[in-house]
Amino acid sequence: MITQSALVSFDRLETPFYYYDMDVLRSTVDNFSSTLRKYGITAHYAVKANSNDRILQTISGAGLQAECATGNEISLAIANGFPPEGIFFDGVAKTDREIVNALKAGIQCFNCESIQELEVIDALAGGLGLKADVAIRVNPDIDAHTHKYITTGTEEDKFGISTWAFDDVFAALSRCHNLQFRGIHMHAGSQITDMNVYAMLCKRAAEFEKIFSEHGYDVQILNLGGGLGVDYEKPLENWMPDIEGLCRTISENLPLKPGQTVHIEPGRALVAECGHIISRVIYVKKGLKKQFAILDCGLHTLIRPALYQAVHQVENLSCKAPVEKYDVVGNVCESSDVFAKDLEGGAPHRGDFFAIHSAGAYGQVMNMKYLQRELAPAVYSDDLK
Ligand code: LLP
Repeated sequence: MITQSALVSFDRLETPFYYYDMDVLRSTVDNFSSTLRKYGITAHYAVKANSNDRILQTISGAGLQAECATGNEISLAIANGFPPEGIFFDGVAKTDREIVNALKAGIQCFNCESIQELEVIDALAGGLGLKADVAIRVNPDIDAHTHKYITTGTEEDKFGISTWAFDDVFAALSRCHNLQFRGIHMHAGSQITDMNVYAMLCKRAAEFEKIFSEHGYDVQILNLGGGLGVDYEKPLENWMPDIEGLCRTISENLPLKPGQTVHIEPGRALVAECGHIISRVIYVKKGLKKQFAILDCGLHTLIRPALYQAVHQVENLSCKAPVEKYDVVGNVCESSDVFAKDLEGGAPHRGDFFAIHSAGAYGQVMNMKYLQRELAPAVYSDDLK
């Protein structure tokens, strides 16, 4: 929700910018942290969703751990208050330098995605005289029924290790003496709102746990990955993600043995709804049948609609009536640079403020300097008070 007083402050700012409602972030993080505590589940925030210092500090301040996809994310996470011993390092392409730095930093666990990766981590840990804690990212072969670019857990994905390769995993683990096996990691995909997908993931986790235990490997960490979705259609009414539903689903479907812990890696769900892109209308262009509101931001500011056909609610903040029908488009010379088609909203005028909602996750982190436009800055609600 963009308040009237925030809107007044926008007048003195240059657009576009990423506006973060820190009250929404704090409420979301607090709700996560109390719900997780109730169910005894540990969350590692997926730093890739938004790595702004103040966002990271808010999340680490509430006691959540971190999940990182690169060495730079690990450095940022540590610099912003996440304890190294709670960091999971994910990703199919960890480089030698990243692995060495992560070992030296003392992270909790490498989530490994290939046999070769296990061997490389083993050799590098040996060179440092250290033992590396590893979990095996298993491909659960579940279709998360989300956009194909953000589905990651099916048999043909590049992610994870499939069940048919388990014998090779056991062989690698037994010859790699600098590795300490800790558990299983999975990630079915992103923007999952159907709890049946998580129920299925829990069943798979239990199956994999059994196989590993039968081969003599003690599974301590059961990590179900990220993916909890948000409501992109009605973000202003329904901005709190269903963390309670996810935790309940896990507790009902994943039996635990003594010494086992359950982990999740939410990214989007923690930060999507606190972020909005604030932009001004540069021109209103009238066609024969259509009308276009042309904004001063574009797909370089938020690539999700162009890349995943993602829906984000768009709102004219300056004018609510009369209601007209128009397309809201960006300032880039690509026909996919559209934020809303046939929006029915307040009539657009040059200079009106527009908000693109639910842009806190995978918005600013995916921005780019296409057309040599400046990268848009972050503005925090706390600074406008
Ligand atoms: N864990 C792993 C191993 C992941 O690959 C991801 C996301 C997450 C956790 C966090 O997922 P989340 O809870 O945010 O769904 N740019 C795309 C999303 C890519 C997600 C990549 N991996 C988008 O804008 O929808």
